Amino acid sequence: MANVTVIGAQWGDEGKGKIVDWLASRADAVVRFQGGHNAGHTLVVGDVTYKLSLLPSGIVTGTLSIIGNGVVLDPWALKAEIEKLTAQGVEIDAENFAIADNCALILPLHRDLDGLRENAAGTGKIGTTGRGIGPAYEDKVGRRAIRVCDLAHLDALGPQLDRLCAHHDALRHGFGQDPVDRESLLNELREIADYVLQFAQPVWKRLKKVRKAGARILFEGAQGVLLDVDHGTYPFVTSSNTVSGTAAAGSGLGPASTGFVLGIVKAYTTRVGSGPFPTELSDEIGQRLGERGHEFGTVTGRQRRCGWFDAVLVRQSCSISGVTGIALTKLDVLDGFDVVRICTGYRLDGRILDYLPAHAADQARVEPIYEEMEGWKGTTAGARSWADLPAQAIKYIQRVQELIETPVALVSTSPEREDTILVRDPFVD
Ligand code: GDP
Ligand code: IMO
Ligand code: MG
Repeated sequence: MANVTVIGAQWGDEGKGKIVDWLASRADAVVRFQGGHNAGHTLVVGDVTYKLSLLPSGIVTGTLSIIGNGVVLDPWALKAEIEKLTAQGVEIDAENFAIADNCALILPLHRDLDGLRENAAGTGKIGTTGRGIGPAYEDKVGRRAIRVCDLAHLDALGPQLDRLCAHHDALRHGFGQDPVDRESLLNELREIADYVLQFAQPVWKRLKKVRKAGARILFEGAQGVLLDVDHGTYPFVTSSNTVSGTAAAGSGLGPASTGFVLGIVKAYTTRVGSGPFPTELSDEIGQRLGERGHEFGTVTGRQRRCGWFDAVLVRQSCSISGVTGIALTKLDVLDGFDVVRICTGYRLDGRILDYLPAHAADQARVEPIYEEMEGWKGTTAGARSWADLPAQAIKYIQRVQELIETPVALVSTSPEREDTILVRDPFVD
């Protein structure tokens, strides 16, 4: 049976959480494979809203939920999120939730460094979520990280902690900060260790068993392809690979396991944080998109920048990430516009480009070329079938799929779980 990999095809916040939640009831396991609690995935079920940052969105339907090795895990954020969801009536235990024992940890010193660097960068700052994501991935790749499995061996952590602190103390010194308080760090780890360890296991083995039983696995990406550390708008990106291929490496399954790649695509474009954004609108249309779409960050509460749909970017993302089909979300936000615009190419120094160039300065200079379409009079909000959509909205969807060279598999018409139109089932494709 097919597995499905969900990834964001823009700059994040495309509505991945809603779609994963919708698909989760038909999956046997949901796996996060990269990122950390920089993600903010919102699920609306009836009159209850769930906001997840670290926990896979499958946890709300009670589906086996797994944090893969590619995730950077903040133990204290994990505990707080589990407590918050438990208070909302979600059951989370060692039966339905597992954490890879080889996950790298985010420690308070990572959050410190994230903040120190951003403060020092002034106008050049990335606009990170301040969660310590970048510094934690640096330590992982630098072979200095403390990992989940180390929590079971804290008495032997001395030499590892020496290496880690030597690195951070030098950086902190440069920022005029005190060295890391090793004793209090070790005490904090001692206090939280058993809590994390109750869920820790070699999840690659668990997933192997799930796969052997012919069960369906749903991989849940965080962020979006344009925030990918290789393929995104570097350096204004996150510190992980957000493309579909990471689902395999970040969970411990082979590349053939990723199955149908479902790219989540917002019907317009948003971005939170700094960096180039060719179709950004700083006029009343951008403001209207932001208000109608409630475009405020789930994690930091920051206002998201808004603009028209950019078909060049999404075509590039779909190609880079091998997207099989897309879920087009937030179509309802475009209801009531007299005209809607789609970016179909860029102008740069008298040339026409059909892709986003790699250099940040060029990315900031490209001028969007727009195609204009008539908007639709009726409403798409809450539509649950193709027949409920105004003819002009269908034309918009068809034009989008033509320009991005990728078919539409799902359409989402409100935050609510059931306000979703299934065009092509990713699990049986
Ligand atoms: P994610 O990070 O990709 O999971 O997306 P977020 O949850 O950060 O942001 C998407 C926001 O849009 C959330 O508040 C969702 O509840 C909401 N949303 C998702 N799909 C739709 C939709 O089709 N229409 C509207 N109006 N809102 C949606
Ligand atoms: P979800 O999963 C939108 C952005 C930050 C910043 C950059 C680097 O909800 O789509 P980081 O803290 O990762 O070092 O910040 O990436 N960013 C996101 N933007 N959605 C997200 O996640 C994001 N996660 C990180 O705003 O520009
Ligand atoms: Mg989000």
